[in-house]
Amino acid sequence: MTNIFPVIAIDGPTASGKGTVAHKVADRLGFHYLDSGALYRLAALSALRRGADLNDEHALAKLAEHLPVHFAGPEIVLANENVTQAIRAEEVGNLASKIAALPAVRQALFGLQLGFRKPPGLVADGRDMGTVIFPHAKLKVFLTASTEARAQRRYKQLIVKGISANIEDLLSDLKARDDRDTHRAIAPLVPAEGAHILDTSNMTADQAIEQVLSWHAQSKQ
Ligand code: DC
Repeated sequence: MTNIFPVIAIDGPTASGKGTVAHKVADRLGFHYLDSGALYRLAALSALRRGADLNDEHALAKLAEHLPVHFAGPEIVLANENVTQAIRAEEVGNLASKIAALPAVRQALFGLQLGFRKPPGLVADGRDMGTVIFPHAKLKVFLTASTEARAQRRYKQLIVKGISANIEDLLSDLKARDDRDTHRAIAPLVPAEGAHILDTSNMTADQAIEQVLSWHAQSKQ
């Protein structure tokens, strides 16, 4: 029951590079990919668009449970609008982190996440993939990097996109998010039992991808 289709769970803090690593590992193995953070971001964007009461946990959970979302390859469509870029805005990420602390919202997104587990396998990235959603994953990785390295990466990403950014603001946003994600009462960001810890502060994305693939190959034996 535990390993019908293999799951590789990759958890870590914001801007740690886990999205890039998880996505590429899934490509290389021909596995499906779940970006669980995108689901929290979609719930946040949906709440903003609908002017939902951000203090009403029940209403937010209802929104999350009935997200009119459609994944078209790499594109994410919410109620007929392509929101692939819109959900990446800092404002949406910050709100996602806030509503992700609400138990009813997490519960509402639980089943949706399990549904991504399909043959031949899944690579799932987030905060609680190895601890809560896929506790029986055959490989668990906790991917991290120093706050400074992550702020620098986020800064470069924004500048490349032509979005102006301030490194000090990014650093303090990252710290606030880390604090909230790590210290919340439910499904906090912690390495799962048995997780391999991968600090990518001084690694390229390719090196991190090769390391995860190598752990995956070893875990098959
Ligand atoms: O990975 P990300 O930055 O796209 O995630 C946005 C927010 O969603 C993050 O700050 C916390 C929340 N999140 C979560 O609580 N659990 C997950 N599995 C994924 C994301």
